[in-house]
Amino acid sequence: MHDRLAFLSLRLSLFAALGLSAIACGSSVENGGSGGAGGSGGSASSSSSSSQGGAGGGGFPGCAGGTPILLANGSDSGYVRCDDDTIHRAAVVACDPTINAPACEGTETNKSCTTDADCTDKPHGKCIHRDASGEDPNTSCGCAYACANDAECGADSVCVCDGVVDNGVAWSRCSVSATCKVDADCPSGECGITSFFDGCYPQVGLACRSDADACRVDADCMGGAACVTIPWNSTPGTFTCETDSCAIGRPLLVAGAARTAPASARVDWILAEITPDTASLDPAVRSALAEAWTEIAALEHASVASFARFTLQLMALGAPPELLFAAQQAAADEVEHARVGYALASRYADRPIGPSKLDLTGVPLDTDPRVVLASLIEEACVGETIGAAEALALAGIVRDPVLREVHARIAEDEQRHAELAWRTLRFLLAGADEDTRRFARATFDRAIEAASAEPSLRRAVVAEDVGLLSSKQIGALRRQALRDVVRPCADALLAPAVAPVALADLHA
Ligand SMILES: [Fe+2]
Ligand SMILES: [Fe+2]
Repeated sequence: MHDRLAFLSLRLSLFAALGLSAIACGSSVENGGSGGAGGSGGSASSSSSSSQGGAGGGGFPGCAGGTPILLANGSDSGYVRCDDDTIHRAAVVACDPTINAPACEGTETNKSCTTDADCTDKPHGKCIHRDASGEDPNTSCGCAYACANDAECGADSVCVCDGVVDNGVAWSRCSVSATCKVDADCPSGECGITSFFDGCYPQVGLACRSDADACRVDADCMGGAACVTIPWNSTPGTFTCETDSCAIGRPLLVAGAARTAPASARVDWILAEITPDTASLDPAVRSALAEAWTEIAALEHASVASFARFTLQLMALGAPPELLFAAQQAAADEVEHARVGYALASRYADRPIGPSKLDLTGVPLDTDPRVVLASLIEEACVGETIGAAEALALAGIVRDPVLREVHARIAEDEQRHAELAWRTLRFLLAGADEDTRRFARATFDRAIEAASAEPSLRRAVVAEDVGLLSSKQIGALRRQALRDVVRPCADALLAPAVAPVALADLHA
């Protein structure tokens, strides 16, 4: 589907930015193909919300009927399924925290743990084995955590037993949010639970059903959106229509999910010189392109805020001037990417589209070195590298010269951003102890596994020649970028033989 040599050149550029020998990386790019790798999640994905359709305004419909949901051992889960397939939590029931997954064997290629004793971040940790797959020939070991009760999950989360909703694993797991814990907490008497695959992870959330909800079931939503409650709902603690999407570049992650500004009708973000071919497009393709570019533009727009936060974190950690300068330049690039994206969205939609206000409520500015390290790995080393790889691939696929130029320009910029990410990682790891390096390796394992999943795009139109790829194509492309670029760079940088770098070596 795309030129694999382009990925090799991306890897070489990152190695050059890190001052590493390409020979030292050991990985090769000879294995092509698609499909295979599993895992859940992806750092370069996001969701967008809308409030179309909906149960709001028509009165609170409530739960009709009700069938208790039983766990695999036949015991009551405490959850009840209504006739319309929605689920609510009638009673609090403890969960079995057993993790039914094979233990680490010790012979795996990549290991962020070797025994259960290494998995102490949360209760019930187990160091589990992950098989190799067609896409990722490496076996690995990583920590997994289960839960037994709500108290282990904190104030705004509950322990959801395996088998209630899809939580991405085959064991009990803390929800990502819970503004209610049981039906008795809600005026409506209904504490609803939903699982939403946002293109990254299945996001399980609980909230009181009410007549403030924009929807009750998926059928209330248009365009294949799902009716869910997640921490970043446009109205927190309600149920709204959400769609997933495929991001290019660095997302503004808040609580693990990408935050973006809703679209609005305005002309000042539209670059006049972006005039793609629209006359030859089928109306359905044109409409799908308008939707896709509206989402991409919103993500690029949010990247400006992501880099602003990144700049502040760099300053808090005493970064050298060249990293600060590059971060400022990258933020300016993202403004241009957003303008290009909104221009394309507006041309395809034949109406002006731009961003409205970006809600920064709850956006953390954490300067703890480990938090910065983890978000750098997830958002930038993985997210920006995949973004560069995706843009590179799309530049080689699309036929419209205007689109080709756009993807090529974004690819060039995102490659520079990826280089910045990896140089920053090297700065953060300079002189780091083995415990920190092990933390970095474990974070890479998690982020790579997450990004290996196929995004669940509910895309009505797939048209390669204009860049509308299927979930399967995007998943395969990401796994290739992870295997050919991200993993070799991470292995080379985190290998014990790499000496701490002097600040003077950080220049590109
Ligand atoms: Fe970027
Ligand atoms: Fe970008």
